[in-house]
Amino acid sequence: MRKMGEMPYYAKLGKIPAKRHIQFRRPDGGLYSEEVFGTEGFVGATSTIYHLHPPTQVTGWRTLYKCAPEYVEVDVMRMRHTRSAAMPPKGDPVTGRVVLFGNSDCELSVCVPAEPMKYHFKNATGDECLFVHHGNGTLFTSFGTLKFRARDYLVIPKGIVYRMVFDEAMDGEPNPRFLLIESVNGSHIVPPSRYLSKATRQFLEHAPYCERDLRIPELPLTYDKLGKFEVRIKSRSTVHAYDYTYHPLDVVGWDGCYFPYIFNIDDFSPIVGKHHMPPPTHQTFEAHNFVICSFCPRPLDFHPQAIVVPYHHSNLDSDEILYYVSGNYKARKGIESCSLTLHPQGIPHGPHPGTIEASIGATHTNELAVMCDTFRPMFPTRAALEMDDQAYPQSWIGAAAPFAATSNGRAIGDSKSKPKNKKQASGKQAPSASAANPSGNADTW
Ligand SMILES: [Fe+2]
Repeated sequence: MRKMGEMPYYAKLGKIPAKRHIQFRRPDGGLYSEEVFGTEGFVGATSTIYHLHPPTQVTGWRTLYKCAPEYVEVDVMRMRHTRSAAMPPKGDPVTGRVVLFGNSDCELSVCVPAEPMKYHFKNATGDECLFVHHGNGTLFTSFGTLKFRARDYLVIPKGIVYRMVFDEAMDGEPNPRFLLIESVNGSHIVPPSRYLSKATRQFLEHAPYCERDLRIPELPLTYDKLGKFEVRIKSRSTVHAYDYTYHPLDVVGWDGCYFPYIFNIDDFSPIVGKHHMPPPTHQTFEAHNFVICSFCPRPLDFHPQAIVVPYHHSNLDSDEILYYVSGNYKARKGIESCSLTLHPQGIPHGPHPGTIEASIGATHTNELAVMCDTFRPMFPTRAALEMDDQAYPQSWIGAAAPFAATSNGRAIGDSKSKPKNKKQASGKQAPSASAANPSGNADTW
């Protein structure tokens, strides 16, 4: 496994002693319990945390339920469109997760929770990256409190105990909903290495976001309560339950480079160009064998003859999954908010027929989408098939442009097939339906 980037900076919260591994006493004279929270065998990102109680004091282990996704159609390779908008609310922010696609590196779920979590949870299998589509709330973690809102990415590294609480939706507001991409191959979800200084791990000038955009845990941190508290742990494709005799968020202080944080997608500064920029410019996070990208509203390419939608492409080493958040998808057949599309590495993909020509002259896109690219094929679950748009693989059939080759044998470039006016030929596009409504472009890859 290649060495990944890691959280770029050191942070601390609460009370910590002057040195590591020295006596650090509670007001009653007893010792706080120090725990080194380390990754990659203690040579990766690490934090040191101080508990009111020894973190080893857990009992009552129970196996609650299996959570290994069952993949179907693993030998079927086709483009897929999964409509998740009508998914009914169910479960809580953990039990309500519905895995739609996955492989041995990552799992992608959608969650529309119906009820609050009555317990705390830790994912001991991998890191979680939640994209909050709808809803506001609070993430209570062993590293402190994080207020979240719609369009936030919540990065919760492996092993951190948390409880996710959504505020009640007001009348007319959509039910809370989030997309979850989690690692299941032991790797961590981190900012791309190439955005960070090799010497200091500081975000470099070309990075589309930086430390100022990351929201890290704040007070309150410590819950000093005795009782019976359930903590559920995801590990070995199973969710287990453990009992704590004290509130599991009993940390009085921590410091280090391993902690949960939030990044709002509207704080991503898109990189734009004279010609169409490739998907890696949208990259937001990476892990071993998969990346997460943010396609945000932005000005489009400014060469006078620019084609402002993506070219057809074969991403030969990757499957690509897009989750559509908001924007105008009129140029994309059948796509709606909460749609997911899967384009496997074996088939070229790109704009729908007619959309290249229609996009010329547009100056902005207002689409917002999250993409997960994987280096190994992504397989659907039965839940994904239940929301499958069977017509999607056929949706690329049709004339690519008004003057493309036709069945009567007329070739592209034939004098009868020329652009209708000089402005169109020169790239100085006359106002068109798309230019008048520039938000109509499908610009996601
Ligand atoms: Fe693509």
